[in-house]
Amino acid sequence: MNVQDFQKMKDEGRKISMITCYDYSSARAVADSNIDCILVGDSLAMTMHGYPTTLSATTAMMALHTAAVAKGAPAKFIVGDLPFLSYRKGLKDAMDAVHELMTAGAHAVKLEGVRGHAEIVRHIVDSGVPVMGHLGLTPQSVHALGGMKVQARTNAALKVLGSEAHELEEAGCFAIVLECVPAQGARRVTDSLRVPTIGIGAGPYVSGQVLVYQDVLGLNPGFKPKFLRVYANTFEVIRKALNAYDDDVKSGAFPSASESYKDPDFIEPGATKPTEHAGENGRGSRITLTSEMNQ
Ligand code: KIV
Repeated sequence: MNVQDFQKMKDEGRKISMITCYDYSSARAVADSNIDCILVGDSLAMTMHGYPTTLSATTAMMALHTAAVAKGAPAKFIVGDLPFLSYRKGLKDAMDAVHELMTAGAHAVKLEGVRGHAEIVRHIVDSGVPVMGHLGLTPQSVHALGGMKVQARTNAALKVLGSEAHELEEAGCFAIVLECVPAQGARRVTDSLRVPTIGIGAGPYVSGQVLVYQDVLGLNPGFKPKFLRVYANTFEVIRKALNAYDDDVKSGAFPSASESYKDPDFIEPGATKPTEHAGENGRGSRITLTSEMNQ
């Protein structure tokens, strides 16, 4: 997947699958899947750091997680989220943030809204960095929106959404996330644009879908908005595995003999001492953990 494939997939009517990802081990699982591309979303402030909103994500945080994901999924197209206000403090600060994410391993950046920063979007694009837009529910504006609410529920609001989407397309965005928008409105916007839309809570008539890794895998119990489909109850799987480990430690069932290393110097009670075998350096040979972890 590269940036041109987004347009190609929309033109050919093929859906784009995207998932958020924030760390190395999860990225390895995504790398081994058929998912088309990864978003290192600023939702990591909530999923990975426990903050109540995305406002606490910083550029340094985003770059650190982007670098970990890039190491775990080197062949996937990675979009790095520009965090709260990082592109609203002038061109230099915005470009510094873009620089950090791109050198950390992102192939594109995402930013929310367009009012007041269309010129910055244009400058980032003209600098050779693909930009993904994000409209509808824009979580960085949670306080201005009065909470996490479905957007564009009136014709007037849908008209504004449509014109902002066109502004982002004209500024050079290669794709636009539509978050929490009624399905028919998202369809209208998608059909009126040349570039693809990636929906989250925006119904089926968009060019692709993005969901949060923890939500898809049931790692966020109790969070079940209407738009979410949970594909595995991983929280429960992990909880059961941890309790089984705890039981085995406390009962002495773990570790077993086959999970323990043999010490060549150890003499079973009642056994005769074997002939001493001297290693090359004159000492009895010992297990070297680096090369013999499984013996
Ligand atoms: O940060 C994020 O995870 C996002 C998606 C919800 C689109 O922006």
